Amino acid sequence: MKQAVLATMVGAVILTQAPAAFSAGISSLRGDNALNAEAKAFEKARQKKVEGGFERNWDLQPPSIPHDISKDRISLQENTCLKCHSKANYEKEKAPEVGDSHFLDRNGKKLEKISSRRWFCVQCHTPQADLKPLVENTFSGK
Ligand code: HEC
Ligand code: HEC
Repeated sequence: MKQAVLATMVGAVILTQAPAAFSAGISSLRGDNALNAEAKAFEKARQKKVEGGFERNWDLQPPSIPHDISKDRISLQENTCLKCHSKANYEKEKAPEVGDSHFLDRNGKKLEKISSRRWFCVQCHTPQADLKPLVENTFSGK
Protein backbone atom coordinates (compact mmCIF):
# COMPACT_ATOMS: atom_id res chain seq x y z
CA MET A 1 0.00 0.00 0.00
CA LYS A 2 2.74 2.42 1.04
CA GLN A 3 4.63 1.62 -2.15
CA ALA A 4 1.56 2.36 -4.26
CA VAL A 5 1.11 5.75 -2.60
CA LEU A 6 4.78 6.54 -3.12
CA ALA A 7 4.59 5.54 -6.78
CA THR A 8 1.59 7.84 -7.25
CA MET A 9 3.44 10.71 -5.61
CA VAL A 10 6.53 10.18 -7.74
CA GLY A 11 4.28 10.03 -10.80
CA ALA A 12 2.62 13.29 -9.81
CA VAL A 13 6.00 14.97 -9.41
CA ILE A 14 7.19 13.78 -12.82
CA LEU A 15 3.94 14.93 -14.42
CA THR A 16 4.06 18.40 -12.90
CA GLN A 17 7.80 18.92 -13.29
CA ALA A 18 8.42 17.70 -16.81
CA PRO A 19 5.28 17.68 -18.96
CA ALA A 20 7.16 18.13 -22.25
CA ALA A 21 9.57 15.27 -21.65
CA PHE A 22 6.77 13.08 -20.40
CA SER A 23 4.55 13.53 -23.43
CA ALA A 24 7.33 12.85 -25.95
CA GLY A 25 6.65 9.56 -27.69
CA ILE A 26 3.03 9.39 -26.59
CA SER A 27 0.63 9.93 -29.42
CA SER A 28 -2.81 11.17 -28.42
CA LEU A 29 -5.82 12.04 -30.59
CA ARG A 30 -4.39 15.53 -31.06
CA GLY A 31 -1.11 14.10 -32.40
CA ASP A 32 2.16 13.83 -30.53
CA ASN A 33 2.47 17.54 -29.80
CA ALA A 34 3.70 18.43 -26.33
CA LEU A 35 0.96 20.08 -24.29
CA ASN A 36 2.85 23.38 -24.15
CA ALA A 37 3.49 23.49 -27.93
CA GLU A 38 1.02 24.84 -30.44
CA ALA A 39 -0.98 22.03 -32.00
CA LYS A 40 -0.93 21.54 -35.78
CA ALA A 41 -4.06 22.84 -37.42
CA PHE A 42 -6.22 19.98 -38.60
CA GLU A 43 -7.55 19.86 -42.13
CA LYS A 44 -10.95 21.38 -42.60
CA ALA A 45 -13.54 18.79 -43.48
CA ARG A 46 -16.54 19.30 -45.71
CA GLN A 47 -19.89 19.06 -44.02
CA LYS A 48 -21.99 16.14 -45.11
CA LYS A 49 -25.42 17.23 -46.31
CA VAL A 50 -28.08 14.63 -46.76
CA GLU A 51 -31.41 15.30 -48.41
CA GLY A 52 -34.18 13.84 -46.29
CA GLY A 53 -31.95 13.87 -43.20
CA PHE A 54 -29.62 11.36 -41.58
CA GLU A 55 -30.77 8.00 -40.38
CA ARG A 56 -30.86 7.89 -36.56
CA ASN A 57 -28.70 5.36 -34.76
CA TRP A 58 -31.09 4.90 -31.84
CA ASP A 59 -34.65 5.97 -31.07
CA LEU A 60 -34.06 9.06 -28.99
CA GLN A 61 -30.96 10.28 -30.78
CA PRO A 62 -31.08 14.02 -31.49
CA PRO A 63 -31.07 13.87 -35.32
CA SER A 64 -27.91 15.22 -36.99
CA ILE A 65 -28.26 18.44 -38.95
CA PRO A 66 -28.43 17.68 -42.69
CA HIS A 67 -27.92 21.29 -43.92
CA ASP A 68 -25.52 24.22 -43.63
CA ILE A 69 -25.73 26.20 -40.35
CA SER A 70 -22.71 28.49 -40.79
CA LYS A 71 -24.95 31.58 -41.00
CA ASP A 72 -27.24 30.60 -38.11
CA ARG A 73 -26.94 32.42 -34.81
CA ILE A 74 -28.06 31.36 -31.35
CA SER A 75 -27.75 33.82 -28.48
CA LEU A 76 -29.89 34.87 -25.53
CA GLN A 77 -31.79 37.26 -27.81
CA GLU A 78 -32.09 35.32 -31.04
CA ASN A 79 -32.26 31.85 -32.48
CA THR A 80 -32.31 31.72 -36.27
CA CYS A 81 -33.00 27.96 -36.29
CA LEU A 82 -36.53 28.82 -35.21
CA LYS A 83 -37.12 30.84 -38.39
CA CYS A 84 -37.72 27.44 -39.96
CA HIS A 85 -38.23 24.92 -37.16
CA SER A 86 -40.70 26.71 -34.85
CA LYS A 87 -44.40 25.86 -34.59
CA ALA A 88 -45.24 29.16 -36.31
CA ASN A 89 -42.89 28.75 -39.28
CA TYR A 90 -42.22 25.09 -40.00
CA GLU A 91 -45.06 24.58 -42.48
CA LYS A 92 -44.22 27.66 -44.51
CA GLU A 93 -40.52 26.68 -44.58
CA LYS A 94 -41.23 22.98 -45.26
CA ALA A 95 -38.96 22.08 -42.35
CA PRO A 96 -39.57 19.45 -39.66
CA GLU A 97 -41.04 20.98 -36.49
CA VAL A 98 -38.97 20.66 -33.30
CA GLY A 99 -39.97 17.57 -31.33
CA ASP A 100 -42.79 17.73 -28.72
CA SER A 101 -40.18 17.04 -26.04
CA HIS A 102 -38.76 20.52 -26.76
CA PHE A 103 -41.77 22.14 -25.07
CA LEU A 104 -41.50 20.31 -21.75
CA ASP A 105 -40.01 21.87 -18.66
CA ARG A 106 -37.99 19.79 -16.25
CA ASN A 107 -41.15 18.68 -14.41
CA GLY A 108 -42.68 17.41 -17.64
CA LYS A 109 -45.12 20.34 -17.86
CA LYS A 110 -45.98 21.41 -21.43
CA LEU A 111 -45.02 25.02 -22.17
CA GLU A 112 -46.31 27.42 -24.83
CA LYS A 113 -42.80 28.31 -25.99
CA ILE A 114 -39.71 26.17 -26.51
CA SER A 115 -38.24 25.22 -23.16
CA SER A 116 -35.05 27.03 -22.20
CA ARG A 117 -33.54 23.56 -21.85
CA ARG A 118 -33.82 23.23 -25.64
CA TRP A 119 -32.80 26.75 -26.65
CA PHE A 120 -29.18 26.01 -27.58
CA CYS A 121 -29.97 23.59 -30.40
CA VAL A 122 -26.37 22.72 -31.26
CA GLN A 123 -25.79 21.45 -27.74
CA CYS A 124 -27.54 18.30 -29.00
CA HIS A 125 -27.91 18.61 -32.80
CA THR A 126 -24.68 18.71 -34.75
CA PRO A 127 -23.66 18.85 -38.40
CA GLN A 128 -21.66 15.85 -39.59
CA ALA A 129 -18.48 15.57 -41.64
CA ASP A 130 -17.39 12.63 -43.73
CA LEU A 131 -14.32 11.49 -41.80
CA LYS A 132 -12.46 8.36 -40.91
CA PRO A 133 -13.23 7.58 -37.23
CA LEU A 134 -10.27 8.42 -34.96
CA VAL A 135 -10.68 5.19 -33.04
CA GLU A 136 -12.44 1.98 -33.94
CA ASN A 137 -16.02 1.98 -32.71
CA THR A 138 -18.51 -0.85 -32.79
CA PHE A 139 -21.41 1.01 -31.11
CA SER A 140 -24.66 0.34 -32.93
CA GLY A 141 -27.25 1.51 -30.39
CA LYS A 142 -29.86 -0.91 -31.70
C1 HEC B 1 -33.85 28.14 -43.81
C2 HEC B 1 -34.56 27.18 -43.00
C3 HEC B 1 -33.79 26.43 -41.91
C4 HEC B 1 -32.99 26.94 -40.92
C5 HEC B 1 -32.62 28.41 -40.64
C6 HEC B 1 -32.53 25.80 -40.15
N1 HEC B 1 -33.08 24.65 -40.66
FE1 HEC B 1 -32.84 22.77 -39.92
N2 HEC B 1 -33.88 21.99 -41.49
C7 HEC B 1 -34.53 22.73 -42.46
C8 HEC B 1 -35.16 21.84 -43.42
C9 HEC B 1 -35.96 22.26 -44.66
C10 HEC B 1 -34.87 20.52 -42.97
C11 HEC B 1 -35.28 19.22 -43.63
C12 HEC B 1 -34.17 18.87 -44.57
C13 HEC B 1 -34.28 17.51 -45.09
O1 HEC B 1 -34.80 16.65 -44.38
O2 HEC B 1 -33.77 17.32 -46.19
C14 HEC B 1 -34.08 20.65 -41.76
C15 HEC B 1 -33.61 19.60 -41.02
C16 HEC B 1 -33.03 19.72 -39.77
C17 HEC B 1 -32.75 18.62 -38.85
C18 HEC B 1 -32.99 17.15 -39.12
C19 HEC B 1 -34.32 16.70 -38.57
C20 HEC B 1 -34.54 15.21 -38.77
O3 HEC B 1 -35.57 14.71 -38.27
O4 HEC B 1 -33.72 14.53 -39.40
C21 HEC B 1 -32.20 19.16 -37.73
C22 HEC B 1 -31.74 18.43 -36.49
C23 HEC B 1 -32.12 20.60 -37.94
N3 HEC B 1 -32.64 20.91 -39.18
C24 HEC B 1 -31.60 21.49 -37.02
C25 HEC B 1 -31.39 22.83 -37.26
C26 HEC B 1 -30.65 23.70 -36.37
C27 HEC B 1 -30.03 23.29 -35.05
C28 HEC B 1 -30.65 24.94 -36.95
C29 HEC B 1 -29.96 26.19 -36.47
C30 HEC B 1 -28.54 26.06 -36.14
C31 HEC B 1 -31.41 24.84 -38.19
N4 HEC B 1 -31.82 23.54 -38.34
C32 HEC B 1 -31.68 25.91 -39.05
C33 HEC B 1 -34.57 24.10 -42.53
C34 HEC B 1 -33.84 24.99 -41.74
C1 HEC C 1 -31.12 18.72 -24.89
C2 HEC C 1 -30.98 18.25 -26.25
C3 HEC C 1 -31.70 18.98 -27.37
C4 HEC C 1 -31.73 20.34 -27.64
C5 HEC C 1 -31.05 21.45 -26.88
C6 HEC C 1 -32.52 20.49 -28.84
N1 HEC C 1 -32.96 19.26 -29.29
FE1 HEC C 1 -34.03 18.89 -30.97
N2 HEC C 1 -34.11 16.92 -30.50
C7 HEC C 1 -33.51 16.31 -29.42
C8 HEC C 1 -33.87 14.91 -29.38
C9 HEC C 1 -33.40 13.91 -28.33
C10 HEC C 1 -34.73 14.67 -30.48
C11 HEC C 1 -35.39 13.35 -30.89
C12 HEC C 1 -36.52 13.02 -29.99
C13 HEC C 1 -37.60 14.04 -30.05
O1 HEC C 1 -38.18 14.24 -31.13
O2 HEC C 1 -37.84 14.67 -29.02
C14 HEC C 1 -34.86 15.95 -31.17
C15 HEC C 1 -35.61 16.15 -32.31
C16 HEC C 1 -35.57 17.32 -33.09
C17 HEC C 1 -36.14 17.47 -34.41
C18 HEC C 1 -36.87 16.37 -35.20
C19 HEC C 1 -38.30 16.28 -34.76
C20 HEC C 1 -39.03 15.15 -35.46
O3 HEC C 1 -40.19 14.95 -35.09
O4 HEC C 1 -38.46 14.50 -36.33
C21 HEC C 1 -35.90 18.73 -34.83
C22 HEC C 1 -36.29 19.37 -36.16
C23 HEC C 1 -35.20 19.40 -33.76
N3 HEC C 1 -35.03 18.51 -32.71
C24 HEC C 1 -34.77 20.71 -33.79
C25 HEC C 1 -34.24 21.40 -32.72
C26 HEC C 1 -34.01 22.83 -32.68
C27 HEC C 1 -34.28 23.79 -33.82
C28 HEC C 1 -33.49 23.12 -31.45
C29 HEC C 1 -33.16 24.47 -30.86
C30 HEC C 1 -34.28 25.43 -30.81
C31 HEC C 1 -33.36 21.85 -30.72
N4 HEC C 1 -33.85 20.84 -31.51
C32 HEC C 1 -32.82 21.71 -29.44
C33 HEC C 1 -32.68 16.93 -28.51
C34 HEC C 1 -32.48 18.31 -28.42
